[in-house]
Amino acid sequence: MRNVTKDNITDVFKGYMADDMNPRMREVMGSLVQHLHDFARETNLTHDEWRKGLEFLEGCAAVETEDRHEFVLASDVLGLSSLVDMLHSRDDATSSSVLGPFHVSGAPPLAVGGDMKRHFGGPVLLAEGTIRDTDGRPIPGAVIDIWQTAPNGLYASQDDEQDTFSFHGLMTVGDDGRYAFTTVKPVEYTVPSDGPVGDILRACGRHPWRPSHLHYIVTAPGYRSLVTEIFPDDDPYLDQDTVFGVRDDLVMTYVERPAGDFPDGLALSGTISEPFLHVDFDVILASD
Ligand code: BEZ
Ligand code: FE
Repeated sequence: MRNVTKDNITDVFKGYMADDMNPRMREVMGSLVQHLHDFARETNLTHDEWRKGLEFLEGCAAVETEDRHEFVLASDVLGLSSLVDMLHSRDDATSSSVLGPFHVSGAPPLAVGGDMKRHFGGPVLLAEGTIRDTDGRPIPGAVIDIWQTAPNGLYASQDDEQDTFSFHGLMTVGDDGRYAFTTVKPVEYTVPSDGPVGDILRACGRHPWRPSHLHYIVTAPGYRSLVTEIFPDDDPYLDQDTVFGVRDDLVMTYVERPAGDFPDGLALSGTISEPFLHVDFDVILASD
């Protein structure tokens, strides 16, 4: 096409794609460019604004390291990560939620009833539940990869004061599908806001806070893996999570219970002298 106009450029782009290209690639690229062009036409995007957009992408690339994933963070605060999650979440299973950039693979095994709190201060939280299938049956041998921040709001990978796997554990449930562990009640924290994504948040008058949460990745042979989070229902940021991760079925009451109610058979049994928090959260996995 030698007469490209602002009105036909989208069709011209689509016409340049080869007939024998991958059909899914054609669908995704065609739609992406359609929306990109419509966006520029609708907003009458100026050269300066277009340049700022490119500078944002260049800025993300400039701060990207092995431990700092600014493009993922951009996708998170724009709601794209959560939207993709929800598009592929099954209605009959526990909702999925954002993975985030702070999970460290290869966590050490944590026995059922084990403790992640160790020497850290803060309210003790006992989290337990059953991993079930969509018919309510326990899934023996399911594995839960658990992680959260320390009481200072930092993940181990962000904090030189913590061991590599601090507040990370890999729990294999028994025949009854039950899991249980003790930890410190998680705290709300901010996503990194000292880079280009922080600039976008500020430009939109948004804050960088996430409500407190526990992260789980739950896997079992024959079932769809689930990446999810659990939130307490009294968190001040529940209705304004900066990465859009909150779902109704992931919001739980952390019930305060007297020390005497602490069950036997856990790593911290016999050591609890103050009231503790308790959350019971069953996870439902859909079959593959
Ligand atoms: C997190 O929950 O760890 C997280 C998710 C998205 C962006 C930053 C952190
Ligand atoms: Fe997190």
